[in-house]
Amino acid sequence: MLFEEYKYLDYQFPEPQYLGAKYTLLPWINKFIPKNVKTALDAFAGSQSVAFLFKQTGIRTVTNDFLDFNNKIGLSLIENKTEKLTNDDLKILFQPSKNKEIFDLMENTFTDIFFEKSETFFLDNFRANIPLLDNIYKQALAFAVINRSMTRKITMGHFGHTQALVYANDAERIKRNRSLVRPIKEIFKEILPNYNNAVFDNKQDNKSFNYNILDLLPGIKNIDLVYFDPPYCDSHADYQGFYHLLETFTEYWKDKQFVNGIKRYEPQRYSGFDKRKDVISSFIKLFELSEEIPNWLISYNNRSYPGIEEFEKIISKYRDVRVEAKTYQNGRGGKGSVAGSKEILFVCTPKKKYFI
Ligand SMILES: C[S@@+](CC[C@H](N)C(=O)[O-])C[C@H]1O[C@@H](n2cnc3c(N)ncnc32)[C@H](O)[C@@H]1O
Repeated sequence: MLFEEYKYLDYQFPEPQYLGAKYTLLPWINKFIPKNVKTALDAFAGSQSVAFLFKQTGIRTVTNDFLDFNNKIGLSLIENKTEKLTNDDLKILFQPSKNKEIFDLMENTFTDIFFEKSETFFLDNFRANIPLLDNIYKQALAFAVINRSMTRKITMGHFGHTQALVYANDAERIKRNRSLVRPIKEIFKEILPNYNNAVFDNKQDNKSFNYNILDLLPGIKNIDLVYFDPPYCDSHADYQGFYHLLETFTEYWKDKQFVNGIKRYEPQRYSGFDKRKDVISSFIKLFELSEEIPNWLISYNNRSYPGIEEFEKIISKYRDVRVEAKTYQNGRGGKGSVAGSKEILFVCTPKKKYFI
């Protein structure tokens, strides 16, 4: 087992650019994974960095995010054991599509807002070709890599602002980040090997889901550890505002409106964890639905609602809980972290029974 574990740690997770990604905190989180865990669930998986850590350590990994573009990363890097994108697949993805006339959502919605017309045309054509790849893992990999290429091309790596094309014409910014002026296709080809090389088989049947976690939990069994990394309510919780374009590209919505300057889709999916009015009752539901899972790890931040003490009180109704903290020295931590803010990990174990 030791040798096997060592082998999987050689696989590199492709560097994400996602608000709240725990990529830089993985060695710290790893210390709190109990040794006897056979199956772990990453419930709010986002970029999938923690699910990837579970997979690397040989654990059977179940992963979930309610946004489908994140699920595509889960399918391609967590559930997928062997499928990679080959040069023949690239020929399919880049060929002029026969269906191009009915694939025009990116061009119609985002031209001159985030990308120039040649780029939105390229994206629609690429999107039309994805279903031609011969299995769901290759398709998911194509989504994961093209979506990451789009965030590389955008200043700040998200779509919650309308400055993309202004920045793409700013010589100073271009000097700092050449990707602003590089074609998406070129970025795609550059980063693809990082994704292909991250595909591996840890000899477990891993699974990626795309549900609201409150709907998924009743249907899954035999989980030894669950990792909760919910949006930090009150501090950058609006994932659908920041990454709407990736979800629109992935879902290719037919039934939404595209609103305000950034053309975010409307109506949005219901989270339950991103608004003050819902968040406490959602956590109570979450913890009740997780009663059968013995070990919980919960990521949190000292600038979120509810505050740490109140949150700890809620958790301690269900589990014995220990609070671990890591202070950011700079602003490069999770979820819009700023220098001096703290990343918290609640380490939760089954309640000890006391007999009198
Ligand atoms: C803080 S991020 C997770 C970051 C992740 N640990 C990483 O390393 O990239 C929170 C995630 O929760 C997802 N989310 C929000 N509400 C959800 C819900 N009700 N069910 C499942 N996922 C949800 C968001 O899409 C977002 O990706």
